[in-house]
Amino acid sequence: MAIKQVVKAAALAVGLFAPPLAAADGCPTVLLPSYQWPVVAPGWTAQLVLGGLTKPRSIAIDVKQAVLVVEAGKGISRHVFKNYGGTCYVLESSTLIINQPRLNHGIALSNDGTKLYASTVDSVYQYDYDASTGTVANKQPTVVVNNMGNNDLVTRTLLISRFQKDTLLVSRGSSDGNIGQASVMENGLSQIRSFSLAAAGSRIYNYNTDGTVLGWGLRNSVGVGEHPVTGGIYAVENSIDGVTRDGKDVHENNPGEELNFLGYLNGTRANLDKYNYGYPKCFAVWEPSEIPNSEGLSVGNQFAITENSTLTDETCAKDYVEPRLTFGAHQAPLDIKFGLGGTRAYITFRGSFDRTQPVGYRLASVEFNDDRGEPKAAANSKDALTDIMTNVNNTVCPDKCFRPVGLAVDFNNVLWMTSDSTGEIYVLQRSGLSTTPPETTGTGLFVNTTSQVKNAASRPMSWDAKVLRYVVAAVMGAWFVV
Ligand SMILES: *[C@@H]1O[C@H](CO)[C@@H](O)[C@H](O)[C@H]1NC(C)=O
Ligand SMILES: *[C@@H]1O[C@H](CO)[C@@H](O)[C@H](O)[C@H]1NC(C)=O
Ligand SMILES: *[C@@H]1O[C@H](CO)[C@@H](O)[C@H](O)[C@H]1NC(C)=O
Ligand SMILES: *[C@@H]1O[C@H](CO)[C@@H](O)[C@H](O)[C@H]1NC(C)=O
Repeated sequence: MAIKQVVKAAALAVGLFAPPLAAADGCPTVLLPSYQWPVVAPGWTAQLVLGGLTKPRSIAIDVKQAVLVVEAGKGISRHVFKNYGGTCYVLESSTLIINQPRLNHGIALSNDGTKLYASTVDSVYQYDYDASTGTVANKQPTVVVNNMGNNDLVTRTLLISRFQKDTLLVSRGSSDGNIGQASVMENGLSQIRSFSLAAAGSRIYNYNTDGTVLGWGLRNSVGVGEHPVTGGIYAVENSIDGVTRDGKDVHENNPGEELNFLGYLNGTRANLDKYNYGYPKCFAVWEPSEIPNSEGLSVGNQFAITENSTLTDETCAKDYVEPRLTFGAHQAPLDIKFGLGGTRAYITFRGSFDRTQPVGYRLASVEFNDDRGEPKAAANSKDALTDIMTNVNNTVCPDKCFRPVGLAVDFNNVLWMTSDSTGEIYVLQRSGLSTTPPETTGTGLFVNTTSQVKNAASRPMSWDAKVLRYVVAAVMGAWFVV
């Protein structure tokens, strides 16, 4: 018989006889959280794949698909997983590749993946990184940026642009935990700056005087992301607590947390007035009805805590950039990453500490137009967020809840997420919109079993599984033809 026929029959057999390799089926290792299984939105599958880490914060995926995690107070660890299809990732090895307790949040890989950047409260360091061996060559790293030390808001989030090569963004918050010093150019506070990495190694940038200011008047924009189609830069802002206006406590629901648009990296920043986001003078409205004298204010408008002859809601509107979207107060957004294709941004909300009813403690998404790189929702929307993974009951948070921090989207559009308080890493995957009825497996995958869809065909398979499938298919095919 002709080889062609065998191949055709084999291909047919793949379709007919390949077992559905869903994540829950035979995942050799399934971890359970110590708290109640989180709720996962319909169309998504989630799995806990690693625990026991020390405050895992930001996360990055190297060119070999290994997972690099900043463990605050410890260093950077590298984790290799084997994928058994879907979200079934089983740990093969973990190594502490950088032993440096001062590293506390930021991580980024260079465009070619051979340099690893990590941050402490005062500096950004560069390490020579080899993904094929999973090792760092220089234990004494090169200092790229310094002079960032202010000890209340200590994260220095890093992002390396894929559009503007060799460009590092560094986000630095205010000098005070709540309302701090004004953000002015020279003090480098409450800013996001960019630095060219071409000169790294030959000079050390002073954060306060070097680089390009992309945005200022940002209290603590911990999450910074780049839209994968347009290169637009977005940041999520953690706004202030304890706000009163005209003597009334409005802090429960005001001001809102923010999603700010910081423009593109391809131009110059001639007029920096267009990039001041208002802190510490003006804040975003979330619940206008709870703000005294709020006539004319709606969601996302900026308001002044105390109006006087020079600072009013009107001057706030005129002088500062309003958020592109506003979210409910106190949720603490800590990262924003875009899915491949740019139709969705993922945002982690680590959760509140000063609100009667705890809020946040969730992973959510915002729909984007892929071509324009803008959120679909209007700026005054109150429902731009769609939950992906939440805790069952926020009343028991923070103690018995996951607290999401860092996000990474890998080459298969799989989402990796850290939870620092529980020392965990989760993997999440959109499982498509198949209408196949759900299976209840009880294996420890915490899916919403009333709505969970399985679409095994669209999930990445491990190489072994693929080989096995083709061997089976070839045998079946040959048998058919015979
Ligand atoms: C920068 O990129 C944006 C988005 O792709 C584009 O609209 C704009 O024209 C570019 N600006 C320059 C100066 O190239
Ligand atoms: C108005 O309030 C702002 C913020 O508190 C302050 O910086 C400014 O000096 C005040 N202006 C006057 C005229 O009191
Ligand atoms: C959430 O937990 C609290 C405290 O245990 C309980 O009182 C409340 O009924 C729970 N809410 C729901 C919706 O289960
Ligand atoms: C599970 O999904 C169904 C259907 O979408 C939804 O009605 C239900 O509220 C979800 N359950 C939970 C616990 O989220």
